Amino acid sequence: MTTYLVTGACGFIGSNFVHFVLEREPGAVVVALDNLSFAANEPNLDAVRERIRFVVGDICDFEGMTAVYRRFRPDFVVNFAAESHNDRAVADPSAFARTNALGAQCLLEVSRREPVRRHLHVSTIEVYGELAAGVPYFTEASPLNAKTPYSAAKAAGDQLVRAYMQTYREMDIAMTHCANNYGRFQFPEKLIPLMITNVLRGRKVPVYGDGLQQRDWLHVDDHCRAIRAILDAPRFPVDDAAATQPERLPIWDISARNELTNLEIVRRVLELLGRSPAEWIEHVPDRPNHDRRYLIEPAKLETVLGWRPEVDFATGLEATVRWYVDHRDWWEAILARTGELAFDWARGPAGR
Ligand SMILES: NC(=O)c1ccc[n+]([C@@H]2O[C@H](COP(=O)([O-])OP(=O)(O)OC[C@H]3O[C@@H](n4cnc5c(N)ncnc54)[C@H](O)[C@@H]3O)[C@@H](O)[C@H]2O)c1
Repeated sequence: MTTYLVTGACGFIGSNFVHFVLEREPGAVVVALDNLSFAANEPNLDAVRERIRFVVGDICDFEGMTAVYRRFRPDFVVNFAAESHNDRAVADPSAFARTNALGAQCLLEVSRREPVRRHLHVSTIEVYGELAAGVPYFTEASPLNAKTPYSAAKAAGDQLVRAYMQTYREMDIAMTHCANNYGRFQFPEKLIPLMITNVLRGRKVPVYGDGLQQRDWLHVDDHCRAIRAILDAPRFPVDDAAATQPERLPIWDISARNELTNLEIVRRVLELLGRSPAEWIEHVPDRPNHDRRYLIEPAKLETVLGWRPEVDFATGLEATVRWYVDHRDWWEAILARTGELAFDWARGPAGR
């Protein structure tokens, strides 16, 4: 029987991963941990509540996390816990530095002292920064070049993970960098659910600047499948050469090579909802320092582990839009708690 400790389990990807594991491994023990910060949504776990061990805990709390490890003795630790919204990070960067950098290190340290079979840290494509003109994509060999408060905090966590991989070679650590995810349970402050929930409430959809920022999109189920494959992969030995060749570290870039502008995404969402883009799109001032373009290349994951994305974008987007249409109670309950989630950068540097 395998025990998983899933941190950030009330968030978008963490909760999808909890469902994913329980659907495929009915005997698995899943410890779902979250500190219930702003983007947490406990109802994401309602359907599996009887089958999980739910813990309210903070990955920055060394003693608390040590107690969780001693109580449950996890085989796998999958760290999704993060502050994840780029707009919110511009308004309040401190919370991002705390969880995404210090929390990542704290959890690694607990895994060092209370050994686990594999510790998987979930990072993001955004740590690589913005693609220069003429550069087709990032790979595991690309230097970290984060430029926003969110991605810089994630990159700091990333550096600590790399340091642990190379310094404590007795530990088995893996790390992922994933493209932008979409799917059910995504908090309605993020692009796709914000657009859908605005339209369903009869509001126009705000598009930052010209909307030509390019993003790389992957369905959350394909992300979960990649994480599962990485947890099952043979151990990836770390050698001294990794110091100058980071692609030799157990780091995996995950993408479906599905690149679209934000404007194109919004147009497609509007078409699926039967609304005319010309009438419903409203261009608004852009967030300061918004990344223009990023794309990553998943060749290592494909060739070494045989992973392939399975969800075609048109099908996945249609299913996602339908899910938000069919689960109005889910997102209305969130909005009743949070109030309006859109940021307005015309109002100044806090976006409010
Ligand atoms: N959403 C994406 O498109 C995407 C893409 C690539 C990578 N990622 C990464 O995947 C991970 C999950 O992202 P998400 O979109 O599900 O984010 P999310 O904001 O929906 O969920 C994050 C969860 O972590 C919890 N959390 C925050 N601080 C915590 C702490 N100190 N201790 C315990 N729990 C804490 C929050 O309460 C929330 O439930 C993040 O590390 C993010 O950087 C996300």
